[in-house]
Amino acid sequence: MSITEVKIRNEIIKSPLNYIGGKYKILPQILPLFPKSINTFIDLFAGGCNVGINVKANKIIFNDNLIYLIDFFKTIHQQNLDITINHITNRIEEFNLSITNETAYKNFRDFYNETRNPLDLFVLIAYSFNHQIRFNNSHKFNNPFGKNRSSFNATMKYNLEKFIIKLKTINAEFTNLNFDKFDFNSLKSNDFVYADPPYLITTGTYNDGKRGFTGWNEQEEKKLLQILNELNNNNVKFALSNVIKHKGKTNHLLLDWIREFGYTINYIKKNYANSNYQTKNREKNGSLEVLITNYKPYKPATLF
Ligand SMILES: C[S@@+](CC[C@H](N)C(=O)[O-])C[C@H]1O[C@@H](n2cnc3c(N)ncnc32)[C@H](O)[C@@H]1O
Repeated sequence: MSITEVKIRNEIIKSPLNYIGGKYKILPQILPLFPKSINTFIDLFAGGCNVGINVKANKIIFNDNLIYLIDFFKTIHQQNLDITINHITNRIEEFNLSITNETAYKNFRDFYNETRNPLDLFVLIAYSFNHQIRFNNSHKFNNPFGKNRSSFNATMKYNLEKFIIKLKTINAEFTNLNFDKFDFNSLKSNDFVYADPPYLITTGTYNDGKRGFTGWNEQEEKKLLQILNELNNNNVKFALSNVIKHKGKTNHLLLDWIREFGYTINYIKKNYANSNYQTKNREKNGSLEVLITNYKPYKPATLF
């Protein structure tokens, strides 16, 4: 399959990483809610970079406090595409990685944990269970082998190539900061902050505080909401992804904050198969996913 830049420019691009909490599937819903013209876009909790990679802006800043992730994206942004692909295929050969060779996977995982080559993280993920990123308390990658399921297959290669080609067309910057250490002071009214933090009322690999990452708790949530208020006071637009309800739990902290400051709730449709899906059922069965904005989007999503 040949990939042309022209084609990629008009296509929604998927992260090469199967990222927990990745927003790829809901991009058709959230992208139209963003401001039409953006100078600098800040993807404050970039994760798999699914959102920032698809936004039109003069500059995109991808931030995440997970250093290994940011190192990977920085490398594929700077490095020549062929060198990246060659590195991956050489490593697969060198370590004899395959869909069935568990010993090879474990040897390579040990090697990565000692050497930390940013591209090797991708190779490891290609063969790991569900292609997921998981580190333990001592920051060692510890996801198990994706036996009979995971490999660097043609689809993965194609997605990676497409992503890199698109990334190279972007004026991108990568930062590895805790969200509260980011310098928001220089932002102007035509800049835009998108926040997709770990959700307080759900659990994910990155928010239980036990995987070598900072945990997410009420204190973090309050700090973030305070930062968003400050942006609002400075006339900087923001959008916050979150869930208000999840499996019977409600995020009262978030709901009270939205009501107190009069922010806009844009509801995200979860069930794609049935567009007549009732709110009542949706709340009972799963979560109420939202995009909170400090502006009224041009074409607000309606609660169907
Ligand atoms: C829901 S994921 C983002 C997914 C991303 N929007 C995507 O579509 O691929 C949340 C991210 O926040 C990062 N994170 C967690 N705590 C953080 C903190 N205190 N500061 C910055 N990033 C943090 C995690 O490493 C994770 O990558």
